[in-house]
Amino acid sequence: MKHAIDWDELARQARAAAQQAYAPYSRFAVGAAILCDDGTVVRGCNVENAAYGLSNCAERTAVFSARAAGMREVVAVCIYTPTAVPTPPCGSCRQVLNEFGPDMAVRAVCDGPDIMDTTLSQLLPGAFGPKNLADAG
Ligand code: THU
Repeated sequence: MKHAIDWDELARQARAAAQQAYAPYSRFAVGAAILCDDGTVVRGCNVENAAYGLSNCAERTAVFSARAAGMREVVAVCIYTPTAVPTPPCGSCRQVLNEFGPDMAVRAVCDGPDIMDTTLSQLLPGAFGPKNLADAG
């Protein structure tokens, strides 16, 4: 582990990120906080669109923002959903997260007491990623 993961801090930031969600259609405000390998934490929230399919999840917002700020690798992600039980990231977000940290730690927190702790490789086994393109002849 390159960085100790301060899960309490990541959860705090994920909850705070959800406050910025733009979710007028689903009313489902999600926040994510990612820990980069340089120790920085970047937040994201879901940003919906009147053309519903263009909506962006909190996890992808966080990854894109982090990359725009110079992130090289993601060590961990914490996701907050306004639910009674923890919610794992959607399939599209799993793929986008994989690009920058196939072994990252994943935690989901919610309004209830339960926490889901897992890893991206558990959530997306057999992932297609940069290594596959590197194997091309
Ligand atoms: N959403 C996220 O932001 N992250 C997830 O992990 C699950 C779903 C968003 C997408 C949409 O804006 C709303 O939650 C309802 O699906």
